[in-house]
Amino acid sequence: MTEKHDNQRARVLSGMRPTGKLHLGNYVGALQNWVKLQNTHDCFFFVADWHALTTDYDDTARLASNTLEVVLDFLAAGLDPEKCTIFVQSQVLEHAELHILFSMITPLGWLERVPSFKEQQQNLPNKDLHMYGFLGYPLLQAADILLYRPKYVPVGEDQVAHVELTREVARRFNHFYKLEGKPVFPEPEALLTPTPKLLGTDKRKMSKSYGNTILLSDDAAAVEEKIKNSVTDRPKLSDKGSPDRCPVGNLHQIFSDKERLAHITDGCTNATITCVECKALAVESVNAHLEPIRQRRRDLTQNPERLQEIIRQGAAKASHAAEETMVEARSAVGLLQINAANDSNLDVEPTGTLRIPESARQAASDHERQRIITSEWAKRVNALLKPDRPGIFISRNGRGSKVGVYAAEENSGVWEFKLEDRPIQVLALLAVDASGRIHAYVLPPRFVRDIWKQFERHDSVVRVRLMTSPTGTLLALGDKHITIQEYEGAYLPLQ
Ligand code: TRP
Ligand code: SF4
Repeated sequence: MTEKHDNQRARVLSGMRPTGKLHLGNYVGALQNWVKLQNTHDCFFFVADWHALTTDYDDTARLASNTLEVVLDFLAAGLDPEKCTIFVQSQVLEHAELHILFSMITPLGWLERVPSFKEQQQNLPNKDLHMYGFLGYPLLQAADILLYRPKYVPVGEDQVAHVELTREVARRFNHFYKLEGKPVFPEPEALLTPTPKLLGTDKRKMSKSYGNTILLSDDAAAVEEKIKNSVTDRPKLSDKGSPDRCPVGNLHQIFSDKERLAHITDGCTNATITCVECKALAVESVNAHLEPIRQRRRDLTQNPERLQEIIRQGAAKASHAAEETMVEARSAVGLLQINAANDSNLDVEPTGTLRIPESARQAASDHERQRIITSEWAKRVNALLKPDRPGIFISRNGRGSKVGVYAAEENSGVWEFKLEDRPIQVLALLAVDASGRIHAYVLPPRFVRDIWKQFERHDSVVRVRLMTSPTGTLLALGDKHITIQEYEGAYLPLQ
């Protein structure tokens, strides 16, 4: 398969509620397919933790840990943060923002008619689901989806009605609001993935609430125990059965190779093997498949910092994409927009000049003014150079005003900056020269957008090299050099 570059790949988005550790039904019904999609599409996958609150608002003790378990399962199953964007819904506030905009234009009847609304209320008779948030469940989902403007939403049958509602909400929004005459939201398509049937160990549908699951994270012994105790399709040894109707047979259909599947299918339908033999083979097949998954889970569990970092970076990548949509949505609705780059909360201006602190503006003399400016930069640079703090400072004060500030010291006319590989809008490079003078290059969003993807990367580190030349300061980009002299601000040396 030829892999396309991100911006040519069709975008895909899907999410899962954090119900705790995922079971094999979740895996073969969704996750396994996501793992494939990450190689061919521009994928966003997330844990819908706010959605969990719509039904479990009165018991949130495990919400955070369940959310982490699901992220762990995503990664263990093979979702790769280098290939797709993995994030937690509540960390990307734009989901809530778009939800509230949608809530203004969505007729109550649309939500009351969504099948899951009545069904869930009937399925959970002991739960008071006459809640605003519960009614809005599918609308929050519409926001989840449209925020990323995906082409496809891989979901199970039960979610198709929600994608359908999403399309209607998109249409209604586009009808009321346009951006320069153009619609903001394309209508996404549900991508119904054919999911192999997998019964739970008691022959009912595999579901957490039935307690008949095999978990993706179960160890080999637990898998063996559960399969051995599983109900089968042959109550008596002499009965003929069918793997289609048997939880163990289903496992073979999914996890065994063709030969083994043919062998047990034949043995089962003709009653020539015992269920005990058949189960032993299923244990083997399932455990062989799960072993690398368990290994990845173990590695990550032992490295909680790495896990945190993945979640942080996922949130940053997702907000970046979400913000692109929200800038348009806010503007289409007609809300007051203050350009991020001119936001007074920003520490830097895209023109390459330092925003002068008010105290400096009011300074009595030139000398005093310069002293204040210098110490402002000095404070910042010192903070950045502290070893206990990685060299990034992201301001989220303004909307989407993500500013990366990095400092590097000169090494014979060359500065090598090591940036974190996370999306930023403004990049400030502070080149400290041999005499302690800081040359600050504040690269504006347009510039950053154009060059960001072209930098060399290793293990989530983006390498940026600056060098001086007779024609000015150059930024190395592969074998090209771009002059960034025009972005240099004039600042005084550190004391
Ligand atoms: N409602 C989905 C489920 O229960 C989870 C979900 C929330 C979702 N937001 C989404 C799925 C957006 C796809 C797209 O499975
Ligand atoms: Fe199930 Fe295997 Fe027994 Fe058939 S032989 S009923 S597939 S356990």
